[in-house]
Amino acid sequence: MTKAILVAGGAGYIGSQTCKVLHQAGYLPVTLDNLATGYAEAVKWGPLVKADLRDRDVILDTIKQYDIQAAIHFAAYSLVGESTRNPAKYYDNNVAAATDFASTLVEGRVTSLVFSSTAATYGMPQTRLIAEDHPKNPINPYGASKLAFEQALHWMGQAHGLNTIVLRYFNAAGADLEGEVGESHEPETHLIPLICKAALGKSPPLTVFGTDYDTKDGTCIRDYIHVIDLATAHVAAIERLMAGGGSDAFNVGTGEGLTVMEVIKAAEEALGRPVPYSLGPRRDGDPEILVADVSKIKATLDWTPKYSDLKTLIESAANWQTIRPY
Ligand code: UFG
Repeated sequence: MTKAILVAGGAGYIGSQTCKVLHQAGYLPVTLDNLATGYAEAVKWGPLVKADLRDRDVILDTIKQYDIQAAIHFAAYSLVGESTRNPAKYYDNNVAAATDFASTLVEGRVTSLVFSSTAATYGMPQTRLIAEDHPKNPINPYGASKLAFEQALHWMGQAHGLNTIVLRYFNAAGADLEGEVGESHEPETHLIPLICKAALGKSPPLTVFGTDYDTKDGTCIRDYIHVIDLATAHVAAIERLMAGGGSDAFNVGTGEGLTVMEVIKAAEEALGRPVPYSLGPRRDGDPEILVADVSKIKATLDWTPKYSDLKTLIESAANWQTIRPY
């Protein structure tokens, strides 16, 4: 029988791509989403249960109805800037509601959970490559809320046997290669979609935030990971848990850093058109460089990124911005 996986936040950017990859791997993704930031149109590979993380009865019924074997939790707010202006919103949803959700999973006897965490849990890096045991000193409420829930999951694991794999994403980008789902954030704040929109004339010129960093061209370095590669990491994590693996945490990135200017230049080449941009001051809270040490996930989950070269990242993101059905 097809194994059903509960995907909280399955109507969002990374959640919907993961549903597609789960379906391709032979699972039934059952999306739980309140559609606060997700899209019903993105739920294509299994049922949508329109409910909140706190809707205990609905979640327990869903677990029973589909015989849910494991869960993935994507349903969080993720805007760093907004989190600094409204921290309570982030603690309420990303910690309190998430803890209710985890408690309901325990009550429904679902003992395998994969949690979407972030490189923002580390704060300012102290080493060039960031490994999972790097100190965690988040510099914004978004990162702090994700770290707090990681810690809650640790203690819930000890108390209730809830096994969790935490995946700490670096910079998610790109879109489905068949254009079936993609990134439609409102407002959009991320570099790659903004570059594509500016190049396509769908948004004003981009501002490069900071040109005086201690990097080869003065702009920030990030580790961009294609959303399909992120999705396959979730499937690998779910399969490890369902095979009896215990709680763990992994970075998900490529291990390679790119400057903002390198991404802009690569986009101009890939798209064959200029990217309109201007140079501006630094954005508050931006670490100079964030690059993952990915040796642990490669060795333990036998996972490797396949679509995270810049050309594929840019072309798939631009294709999505061109068709943009939602
Ligand atoms: N950037 C610009 N101009 C823009 C937007 C971004 O120059 O208009 C630069 C940023 O300064 C940064 C890089 O492009 O150097 C990437 O910025 P994004 O906003 O795309 O992504 P972040 O690195 O800020 O954020 C990502 C995730 C967050 C996570 C964070 C970890 O989106 O969820 O990494 O620090 F918290």
